[in-house]
Amino acid sequence: MPKVTFILPGGEERTIEAQVGQSVMRVAVSHMVPGIIGECGGGMVCATCHVKVAETWAKRIGSPGRLEDEMLDLTELERGPTSRLGCQITMTAEIDGLAVYVPGT
Ligand code: FES
Repeated sequence: MPKVTFILPGGEERTIEAQVGQSVMRVAVSHMVPGIIGECGGGMVCATCHVKVAETWAKRIGSPGRLEDEMLDLTELERGPTSRLGCQITMTAEIDGLAVYVPGT
């Protein structure tokens, strides 16, 4: 199973095994990672699943689509160049080891 590491404000890291096909938001919510709420359940209308993809992964994960990009403008904490909505990143074997920052870091 692919793993994803959440880097929390303050630097604590939580590495979690995800199911293939599960979104980063679902992984975080099901393991109670603080700072990721996923209020809309992945409908791309709340932006409470904002993460900043680690630089080393940014190219592989890619840029947000147009709607996602618009939603990222509404995030509570300022977006960065690698910001994505966690509900729009799907875990696959190819991205095993993905690292994302929880906003506030
Ligand atoms: Fe609402 Fe991602 S869970 S936008």
